[in-house]
Amino acid sequence: MKPELLIIDDDEEIRSQMKWALVDDYSIHMAGDRASALEQFQSKQPAVILLDLGLPPHPASPEEGLAILSELTSLDRRVKVIVITGQNEKEVALKAVDQGAYDFLCKPLQLDELKILLKRSYRMTSLERENEELRERLQSKGFEDMLGACPQIQGLYASIRKVATTDASVLIIGESGTGKEMAAVAIHRSSPRKEGPFIAINCGAIPENLLESELFGHEKGSFTGAHTQRMGRLEMASGGVVFLDEIGEMSLPLQVKLLRFLQERKIERVGGRSLISVDVRVLAASNKNLLEAVQQGQFREDLYYRLAVVVLKLPPLRERGSDLELLSRAFLSRFSKELGRGSLKLSPEAIDAIRHHSWPGNIRELQNRLRRAVIMAEDSRITPEDLELGAAPIMARNLPLKDAREAVEREMVLQALRNNDGKISRAAAELGISRPTFYELMEKLGIKKEVDTVPE
Ligand SMILES: Nc1ncnc2c1ncn2[C@@H]1O[C@H](COP(=O)(O)OP(=O)(O)OP(=O)(O)O)[C@@H](O)[C@H]1O
Ligand SMILES: [Mg+2]
Repeated sequence: MKPELLIIDDDEEIRSQMKWALVDDYSIHMAGDRASALEQFQSKQPAVILLDLGLPPHPASPEEGLAILSELTSLDRRVKVIVITGQNEKEVALKAVDQGAYDFLCKPLQLDELKILLKRSYRMTSLERENEELRERLQSKGFEDMLGACPQIQGLYASIRKVATTDASVLIIGESGTGKEMAAVAIHRSSPRKEGPFIAINCGAIPENLLESELFGHEKGSFTGAHTQRMGRLEMASGGVVFLDEIGEMSLPLQVKLLRFLQERKIERVGGRSLISVDVRVLAASNKNLLEAVQQGQFREDLYYRLAVVVLKLPPLRERGSDLELLSRAFLSRFSKELGRGSLKLSPEAIDAIRHHSWPGNIRELQNRLRRAVIMAEDSRITPEDLELGAAPIMARNLPLKDAREAVEREMVLQALRNNDGKISRAAAELGISRPTFYELMEKLGIKKEVDTVPE
């Protein structure tokens, strides 16, 4: 896939010359004034921009060009803007560099010089990206794949590191998909038991009558179906860690047995007669509020305090601020690689939609939506539809006022047309405007008359 390049120049001839010279190596977009430059920039997100400083309405002075430069760099501090100035305008060029331009070229342009500078700019961009990814990974002081830089997660990493060195029981709570199991694995991997096994058991997924023998094992013939002697998960985890997932689903009678095990550190297999010592660290997880369950008599208080020597709380994704984007980009690049798609980007609309969604399924939901989007995306940009997310409401979209106004107008016009079966005079009346004004609006917003409307 060719890298995107935006050329901002009001001279038609220069634009077509550059296009001709560069089109083999770059995917080229053009703009001749500030409005279209910003629009192209936001929709194509080029890493490098060529900007002629002399633009309308002041083609003879660098004023407009410098204003665009500062808008572009404030929208994206990483974008590389190469400014193009007139012959004896070194001072202007230096001023532009001082204001954040990456480099400059003076007219008349030398094509070979331009090509080298472009190559260097893209190379710099990719180095910076790599560097940033590396820093993000280092910042998160890696529990391998566990990503995140928000303050809550930083606090969580610190807690994981502290509890990892002990043998204390840890209760991990958090909504579904927030990374409870991942946190348990991280504790295991950074603990002295890391060479020992990590055995997980989902107390909510195993029928109650089987859970006891899953945990404690059974002797041959102890119940119908127990054809052989079998080791339980607690015993299997000996020397390592047992992870009791969805502990809140465990029945009260079994809670009693688990409590006894935690007190004595010995198990008795179902149907067995001897006690076996087991050296295991217990980590448990729940997406329910266990203290509430205690109050309602569904969970034993004494067991709760045995398990919850330390409580780690995983924040829901919607409260993790900028991590949402960090995780989105990380998963996007992981899945594009895994699924063999070239480099994919999130469109600005997709980013808004992601920010606006409440993520009830948390990180797992984010992974699922992005995996789907990578499969569904029709070009190199992921849309809200690819993610199966509605577009964010206009107020949440972070648009310049002019675009927001147009977006509202468009939605109202389309809605009025829908409400009135496409009949223009009724739609206009609903909005309290005249028919000609309504037509003008449609024209301005590019809403097609033939398709969705009935002129009467
Ligand atoms: N900080 C993170 N960085 C990257 N991936 C993460 C992170 N936290 C969780 N994940 C991924 O999100 C998915 C869900 O995580 P996990 O299974 O640990 O959540 P959970 O809280 O146990 O969910 P559930 O309640 O549904 O069992 C996994 O694929 C996991 O790899
Ligand atoms: Mg889980």
